[in-house]
Amino acid sequence: MRPARPLPAGPRPGCQNKTLPMKLLHFTDIHLTTPGQTIADRDPNANFDRALAHAMEAQSDAEALFITGDLSDWGEEDDYRRLKVRIGKLPMPVHLAIGNHDDRATFLRVFPELAGEGGFVHYTAPLSLGHAVVLDTWGPETHAGHFCAARAAWLDRTLAALPGPVWLFLHHNPVPVGIGPIDEIMLLDAERFATTLAPHAGRIAHIFHGHCHLPLAGSLLGIPFSAPRGTNHQGWPDFGAERLLSGSDLPEAYGVVLASPRSTMVHMVEYGYQGEIRSEGSPDYAAWDKLTMIR
Ligand SMILES: [Fe+2]
Ligand SMILES: [Fe+2]
Repeated sequence: MRPARPLPAGPRPGCQNKTLPMKLLHFTDIHLTTPGQTIADRDPNANFDRALAHAMEAQSDAEALFITGDLSDWGEEDDYRRLKVRIGKLPMPVHLAIGNHDDRATFLRVFPELAGEGGFVHYTAPLSLGHAVVLDTWGPETHAGHFCAARAAWLDRTLAALPGPVWLFLHHNPVPVGIGPIDEIMLLDAERFATTLAPHAGRIAHIFHGHCHLPLAGSLLGIPFSAPRGTNHQGWPDFGAERLLSGSDLPEAYGVVLASPRSTMVHMVEYGYQGEIRSEGSPDYAAWDKLTMIR
């Protein structure tokens, strides 16, 4: 992929630098697998490396990277070991959640430091503007998400102790997406999850999830949530599907989060896009911009 051309020097009329103070990266559904194997004709290990390289070049000022589950396609220890090596080379903290394709016990053999209360992979992480809370929605022998009473009690106590704002990260979608085969394996304890969040809703800035391999945005109790597509294989919103999930050849993607104490902005960066990127002021842009954008 060709890098974007630089913008013309000097300020542009009508444009101001409104850079927000906290930048986070959100990767999801990396589905690492045995080297050489592919998923949907794509190499998840290579795509994870490409996503990291792209993000480190374009977003190296991010203060943390969150990966919301389906870290390994088959929950295999070798995948977690390779993941640990890769993220250990990054210049920022990396916070991991587990998904239905993961195996909690195997994951914790490689990442024992992430074992939280009750043996769940849930924990808090300080951010420059508040805190992140990473949740564990894994359940054995199912692709659906779980949020039991023990996890709810921990989250309630954790949120009560944090001043806010809080950015929440989990794997499973906590709200139905309206696509049958996905909603069969959504967070099944969604009601308990919502009830747990309710008393703290005013201090939760945003919920980030994955699992669906679709770009999603919505709200739960007035709390906004979003999910980017995964870093490897992609879904398609087939609203008529009854039993089977749909896939597509859409580009690989990850999320970039720009936040202030009062706002959270989420981008989905389609790093796998193979087409042109035309910077304003370049000959390509002039040729492409038939209608002229006037500001
Ligand atoms: Fe996934
Ligand atoms: Fe998943």
